[in-house]
Amino acid sequence: MRTMKAVCIYGYGGPEVLVYEDAPRPHPGDGEVLVRVHAAGINPVDWKIREGHLKEMLHHTLPLILGWDVSGVVETAGAGLTRLKVGDEVFSRPDISRDGAYAEFIVIKESDVALKPKSIDHLHAAALPLAGLTAWQTLFDAAGLAAGQRVLIHAAAGGVGHVAVQLAKWKGAHVIGTAAAKNHEFLRKLGVDQVVDYNTERFEEVVQPVDVVLDTIGGDTQERSWKVLKRGGILVSIAAPPAAATAAAHGVRQAFVFTQPNSGQLAEIARLADAEKLKVIVETILPLSDATRGQELSQRGHTQGKIVLRVI
Ligand SMILES: NC(=O)c1ccc[n+]([C@@H]2O[C@H](COP(=O)([O-])OP(=O)(O)OC[C@H]3O[C@@H](n4cnc5c(N)ncnc54)[C@H](OP(=O)(O)O)[C@@H]3O)[C@@H](O)[C@H]2O)c1
Repeated sequence: MRTMKAVCIYGYGGPEVLVYEDAPRPHPGDGEVLVRVHAAGINPVDWKIREGHLKEMLHHTLPLILGWDVSGVVETAGAGLTRLKVGDEVFSRPDISRDGAYAEFIVIKESDVALKPKSIDHLHAAALPLAGLTAWQTLFDAAGLAAGQRVLIHAAAGGVGHVAVQLAKWKGAHVIGTAAAKNHEFLRKLGVDQVVDYNTERFEEVVQPVDVVLDTIGGDTQERSWKVLKRGGILVSIAAPPAAATAAAHGVRQAFVFTQPNSGQLAEIARLADAEKLKVIVETILPLSDATRGQELSQRGHTQGKIVLRVI
């Protein structure tokens, strides 16, 4: 049996349940590709799954390889492929119900894979799919954000936030972002029109009414966000499903998004990156064997941009 290095969990728990070991190398089935992983992005969902928070929803079988953000090269093609071939440089947010990308190889459905942006390296390309698709599906699919509209993006300096800021600006929106003071210059450089320090200001007191709120925090932040929406506006959350009754009481709409793989949207995101309309910021690069440290950093909740594992 051919093996590969991978980071697996055999049970749910803290960072100590992550095991760096030799695992069986997977084989692609029909309509799938085997990708040689060059880099894997770390996302909060990785440690949420590790801790068992999503086990009722995702029904994983253990052991499980974590990590659902990847950039690499097609190593082997399964039967019946329509677009991809061996040697293609690709990136993906793979199916989260299957083994992930903290590994030297991953099998992915062709329909979940796009050609990676040519102008950025694998380390940056691996940081883009999950955050990019999340920003796209919340701002454009769920909220229908249009030029001239006003959008409030919570945690604007984080993985999802810093990509959402740039997509919203590309669309022609007026962007307001929340962050701690240390991130304000970073956000201004990304094009944020109004920066709010969530530690010293109450955003609902300093933000004029908006058409869209992107809620990446939930809890009290979500509750206070209803007040900043224009009538008919929309609160889109990726943190916790907003209450339909509360939305109705405020005369606004609500949506919860759980990001889905989408190769067409990934191809659009790659085009924007190559056109220098979208820049992904990688704060920390660690070797695959240091996935534990990467998850601990992510779990602190103050990443600027993204954390990525270097596999090659
Ligand atoms: N539903 C889905 O499909 C989906 C998809 C992607 C992500 N998510 C979830 O969305 C959340 C954000 O994901 P992410 O990848 O962007 O996380 P992340 O990169 O870890 O976010 C870190 C950022 O959060 C900011 N932050 C922390 N507390 C804040 C607060 N109270 N107000 C404003 N900003 C705050 C930090 O800014 P400072 O350093 O300035 O404090 C930091 O820049 C996570 O819970 C993740 O699991 C869900």
